Amino acid sequence: MHDDKPTPTPPRLAFYGLGQYGLEAVRISAERGWPIAAAYNRAGPKVGRDLGELAGLGRPLGVTVEDCEHADFSRAGADIAIVAQTDHLAQNLTAYRRLLSAGMNVVCHASEAYQPWDTDAATATQIDALARQHGVTFTGTGIWDFSRVWSGILMLGAATQIGALHHRTVTDIDTFTPQVAQRYFGLGMTQAAFADLRFDGGLYRLPAIMVLKALGLSIDQTTQSATPVLSDRAVHCHVLDRMLAPGIVLGALIQATTTTREGLTATSHIHIGLLPEGETEHMAWHFEGRPRSAIRVDRADTVHMSSACLVNRVRDVVAAEPGIRTILELGPMRPPQDLPR
Ligand SMILES: NC(=O)c1ccc[n+]([C@@H]2O[C@H](COP(=O)([O-])OP(=O)(O)OC[C@H]3O[C@@H](n4cnc5c(N)ncnc54)[C@H](OP(=O)(O)O)[C@@H]3O)[C@@H](O)[C@H]2O)c1
Repeated sequence: MHDDKPTPTPPRLAFYGLGQYGLEAVRISAERGWPIAAAYNRAGPKVGRDLGELAGLGRPLGVTVEDCEHADFSRAGADIAIVAQTDHLAQNLTAYRRLLSAGMNVVCHASEAYQPWDTDAATATQIDALARQHGVTFTGTGIWDFSRVWSGILMLGAATQIGALHHRTVTDIDTFTPQVAQRYFGLGMTQAAFADLRFDGGLYRLPAIMVLKALGLSIDQTTQSATPVLSDRAVHCHVLDRMLAPGIVLGALIQATTTTREGLTATSHIHIGLLPEGETEHMAWHFEGRPRSAIRVDRADTVHMSSACLVNRVRDVVAAEPGIRTILELGPMRPPQDLPR
């Protein structure tokens, strides 16, 4: 049987922030044959280079990386911009303002962007107003969309009784840049320095909050603690490219408990560190209730998966109503229909 569905028009893309995730999204988009209209980065050696060469495609894309301070965004001609810069809405706001004001939808990789109203309501108000004013949509996504948030919601699809929810994850710290691994998870620090680390805003409570919200519940409060991941023998750290002595911090174990006004609780046990031998990255949920079930996503190739979530959400974001639209509003990720065959 022939399926005569017309191939949907590919979206025209812009990229803002060309680090490991931004460039992986460039490679995925280029392979899919989606047109790339513009690329922006802060000043430095990336500016002025051809995007295809910068992304290691081995061929030019005919798109020159522009300095975001001096670019004319109104000339981009893109439907949507993929932003992969910092984790914080307030730090990214200038970028959002430039892109949304030029009539581009925005899909962003900042962890705070998954739930802007919960993470930074003041900045969310500004983003939402800008997006509505210009008739475009802002959405935050990344690997959690598929592996932590929608996996948890799908598990509950067959539930008839729901008690406490439990989320356990293991993430390989070697997938982060050295700066992020050190600053946010204490990699390579002494235990004394780890104790002084200001733990960042409780971003890892977000997946549980989102799953509870999908159940129609109201969040009451969240508590979170972080302890260092340690080893009693020296281990090689790929991301820092050196041996770490016994007792030096290999990452963080973040534990959070979120309660709802309706009395349901979700616990999160998030291990982000050098993986013990034989361990692989995974995200898992189980719940107390009926029928007993659990769901586990095993993952490899984390940078590719997170960037793929950015690209695979593009059509949903372009089609959504103006304003901030979270992945909960967009629904579960669907398989892309236009992969190269
Ligand atoms: N949503 C998720 O599920 C998820 C998962 C993993 C990571 N993340 C987040 O994704 C973000 C990108 O990660 P990455 O590994 O691609 O980082 P990266 O390799 O360091 O790249 C960051 C890019 O943004 C630019 N940049 C960084 N800070 C900036 C600032 N303050 N102002 C303007 N431009 C800035 C960098 O410019 P230069 O080239 O000049 O340095 C670079 O192009 C991080 O915040 C990370 O925590 C999100």
